[in-house]
Amino acid sequence: MIIAVDGPTASGKGTIAKALAAHFGLPHLDTGLLYRAVGVNAVRLGGDPDNPDEALAGCAFDDALLADAHLRSETAGGLASRASRHPAVRAALLERQRSFARQPGGAVLDGRDIGTVIAPEADAKLFVTASVAARAGRRCNEMLGRGEDVTLEEIVADLAARDARDSGRSIAPLKPACDALLLDTSDLTIGQAVQRAIELVNGRTQGG
Ligand code: DC
Repeated sequence: MIIAVDGPTASGKGTIAKALAAHFGLPHLDTGLLYRAVGVNAVRLGGDPDNPDEALAGCAFDDALLADAHLRSETAGGLASRASRHPAVRAALLERQRSFARQPGGAVLDGRDIGTVIAPEADAKLFVTASVAARAGRRCNEMLGRGEDVTLEEIVADLAARDARDSGRSIAPLKPACDALLLDTSDLTIGQAVQRAIELVNGRTQGG
C-alpha cells in the first residue's frame, strides 16, 4: 500500500504521515528533508539555491546531512523552497523518491507532489491543509519552544512567501491530486487529525 500525503508547510502533514506509517506498519519518507538537504548543501558549497546549476550541485549531498538538526530550521525550509523550483533538481531527486514508494510492502511519503508526480498510483492520497492563522500559530510555538527568536508576523510573512513559491512554480506545483482526500486540520488536535487521516485511508483502501 502506498500512501501519499501532500500539503503546505506547517499543515500537520509530516506528523500525520509519521503516524500513518506507524499505524499501518509502513516505512516513511519525509521528502521535504531531501530538498532541505539540497538547499543547505548548495549554500555550503558556496552556491545560491536560486541559481539552477548551483542548486543542482547541492543534490550531491552526503546522506549524513539528513540527520542534521539544522535541516529543520526555517532557514533550511526557505532554501529548500528556492532550490526545489528548478526542474533539474526535481529530476535528480525523482528516482530516489519513486523507488522508496515502490518498495515491496509499500510506503508513506509526504511532500508537495507525491500524489501528482512521485506516486500517482498511490492507493490513498491525502491533501492536508490548515488556515494560515493555525499554521503560523503552530510554527510559532514550535520555534519559541526551540528557543528561537521570532514574531508571529515574521512567520505569517514567511509562510505566505513559501506558499506562493511552492504553489506558483511551473513544475510540480503544490496542488491536490484530482483523487486526493482533503483534510483540514485547522480546528483539530494532533490526535483528532491522525484519527481522521486513518479513517480516510481505510475508507479509500477498503472500498469506502
Ligand atoms: O515539507 P517541507 O517544509 O520540509 O519542504 C521544504 C520545501 O521543499 C518546500 O517549501 C518545497 C520543497 N518541497 C518540494 O518542492 N517537493 C516536495 N515533495 C517536498 C518539499
